[in-house]
Amino acid sequence: RQGATLSDLAEKINVNPAALVTVLFHLGEMATATQSLDEATFEILGQEIGWNIKIVSAEEEDRELLQQFDIDLDSEQEDQDDKDLKPRPPVVTVMGHVDHGKTRLLDTIRKTNTSAHEAGGITQRIGAYQVTVNLEGEPRKITFLDTPGHEAFTAMRARGAELTDVAILVVAADDGVMPQTVEAINHAKAADVPIVVAVNKIDVEGANPEKVRGQLTEFGLVSEEYGGDTMFVDISAKLGTNVDKLLEAVLLTADADLDLRANPNMDARGATVEARLDKGRGAVATVLVQQGTLHVGDAIVAGSAYGRVRAMLDENGKQMKEAGPSTPVQVLGLTSVPTAGDVFIVAPEDRTARQIAEKREATARAAQQAKRRKVVSLETLNEQ
Ligand code: GTP
Ligand code: MG
Repeated sequence: RQGATLSDLAEKINVNPAALVTVLFHLGEMATATQSLDEATFEILGQEIGWNIKIVSAEEEDRELLQQFDIDLDSEQEDQDDKDLKPRPPVVTVMGHVDHGKTRLLDTIRKTNTSAHEAGGITQRIGAYQVTVNLEGEPRKITFLDTPGHEAFTAMRARGAELTDVAILVVAADDGVMPQTVEAINHAKAADVPIVVAVNKIDVEGANPEKVRGQLTEFGLVSEEYGGDTMFVDISAKLGTNVDKLLEAVLLTADADLDLRANPNMDARGATVEARLDKGRGAVATVLVQQGTLHVGDAIVAGSAYGRVRAMLDENGKQMKEAGPSTPVQVLGLTSVPTAGDVFIVAPEDRTARQIAEKREATARAAQQAKRRKVVSLETLNEQ
C-alpha cells in the first residue's frame, strides 16, 4: 500500500523488522522500520530476500483481503447467468444548482407518492426511498437517493459505490444554467449516467423554460423537440405540476439507455447510503441493495463495521424480512457505524464478517499512521 514501511512488510511476511532494516542497509539504503518507502526500494529489497513486492492501491488490497475469505467481487459479477438476471428499479439522484429546487422536488415526490400509501405510517428520512409509478398501465418502482447535491454523489463514487443509474438535473427556469448546473452535468457525464432535465419553477413569473433548453444544448443536452435525445420536463416542484411526467421520463430514459437487471438469488451486496448512531437502537445504517437479497439474520460487513442484521425497516418504518436489488433499507444490528459510500457484503459467517472488519480497521489505522508520520517528518524538515 502507499506509504508502506518495513514494519508493515515485516508483519506481512512474518519476519523481524530489524532484520529488514539490516538487509536494506547492506544494500546501501538507510531506512528506519517506520519510514515510508517507495516501490523501487521495496523491489530491490524484495529481490534480495526472495519476495516479489508490489505496492497496491487500497482497493486492490481490500480485494485481496476478501479473496482470503473466498469472496470474489469480480468473478461473481461477471459469472451471472443471463437467466438469473431480473429487472430492477432505477436508482435516481437529484442534482442541480443551489436553490433550484432539489429538496423541494424530492419532498414533493415523496409526499405525493410514499407516505400517502401507508395510512398512519410515520415516514422518516432514511437517505433513500422508493416510489411506484404507473407506466403504460404497469406499476414500476423508482428508488430515490434522498441526499440531493453532487457531494453525496461524488463521495460515493470516490469510494467505489456507483449507485446512481439516472440523474435528474434540476434547473430553475427563472435562473437558468448556473455554475453548479454545469458541475452536475460534468459529474454525471464522468460517471456515464444519463440525465433527465427537470426545468423547475415554471410557476414563477418570468420563468423561461425555452431559454434553459437553449442553454443546455451547449453541454450536449439537447431536448427531443430540438432533435436531441435528452428528455426535458417542465415542472413546478412547489405545485406538483408535471412531477408524474418527470417520473415517467426517468423510467423511459432508463428503459432506453440502460439494461437494469440484477440477480436477486445470491448473497446481497450494495452500499451504505447513510449511517448514524441512535441512542436506543445503536448503529443504524441505510443501505442500498445492488445485487442479491438481504435477509434478517445475514452477517454483513460494511467498511470496518460488521454485525448481523437484527431488523430491517423501510422508509415508512415498516419491518422487512428481505430486500432485493435496488431496495433501500435501514439496517439495525451493526456493531459500529459505517461511512456513507462503504460497500457492504454478506459474509458466510459472523466470524468472517468480524475478521474482515478487523483487518480493514487495522489497515485504516496503519494508513493513518503512515500519513501522520509523513506530516511529522515534513515538519521536522521545515524546522531544520
Ligand atoms: P440547496 O439545497 O440550497 O442547494 O437548494 P435546493 O436546490 O434544494 O432548493 P430548495 O428545494 O431548497 O428550493 C429553494 C427555494 O425555491 C425554496 O424556497 C423553495 O420553496 C423554492 N422552490 C422550489 N421549487 C419551486 C417551484 O417549483 N416554484 C416556486 N415558486 N418555488 C420553488
Ligand atoms: Mg436542498
